[in-house]
Amino acid sequence: MKKQTYDELFSQVGSLLADETDMISAMANVSAAIYGMLDGINWAGFYRVKGGQLVLGPFQGKVACIRIAKGKGVCGTAFAENTVCIVPDVHAFPGHIACDSASNSEIVLPMRTPDGEVFAVMDIDSPVFSRFDGEDADGLGRIIELMEKLPIAAE
Ligand code: SME
Repeated sequence: MKKQTYDELFSQVGSLLADETDMISAMANVSAAIYGMLDGINWAGFYRVKGGQLVLGPFQGKVACIRIAKGKGVCGTAFAENTVCIVPDVHAFPGHIACDSASNSEIVLPMRTPDGEVFAVMDIDSPVFSRFDGEDADGLGRIIELMEKLPIAAE
């Protein structure tokens, strides 16, 4: 079931990003596409790396903390370790940053430059425990691969 949703999402994002060169606009539309298509989520968006920390980018959902230090929370951990983080129960994650008290599980994926450096993370939260698994990591990873081909806004 998830695969079908991700296939649809991938094709929608592919059309949205065709010929687009602005990363911020792409993040805005991708967060809206994810928020609209995935079931059981309450936040979808991006944090960009600026001055060595994460800074809130385009998103859908409730207001969120603007700055996250490298290594802090789930997002900061995915950034520091340059790895996908799937957290089945955010309350059991040391240092989790609770932006929306309804969130119970979370997935964060790093976005990398061609050199492998993290320039942003994609963060998706859910009120459902254990909402995310390897299928989500694969499906969202395919979308990130598309986005990583865009020029990175340096501002
Ligand atoms: N929960 C995240 C913070 C970002 S918000 O959920 C949007 C974290 O622990 O990194």
